[in-house]
Amino acid sequence: MGQKEICSENKQINGKIFYKTANVSELQEKKGKKFILDKVPVAVFKVEGEFHAYSNVCAHQKGPICKAAVDSEFIVCPWHNFQYKVKDGKGPVGFNDFIPYYQTSVEDEFIWVSLMN
Ligand code: FES
Repeated sequence: MGQKEICSENKQINGKIFYKTANVSELQEKKGKKFILDKVPVAVFKVEGEFHAYSNVCAHQKGPICKAAVDSEFIVCPWHNFQYKVKDGKGPVGFNDFIPYYQTSVEDEFIWVSLMN
């Protein structure tokens, strides 16, 4: 958990560049893992069997999102408990803070993450 890995292997999937991150078996349910994709720090989570990727940098004071707890539909920053929706990185209703949410794809038992929207 919180381990840093630099990922440079990438390929195009449906016209977008995706970076290879963890094998699906490496992620534990509701635990984040940090990767660096083209110098961008990204946190990858498995929640209810699905993979999600976010900026690893909290919008509040740059706390490490890879160490966030998962509380039902939110991931919760470990530093001051800002919440972001698991499904899209947006804050709860009434809050404008968000963290970038990245598209993921599972191929060949690996989780691939795109920095492109
Ligand atoms: S740095 Fe994330 S809540 Fe403050």
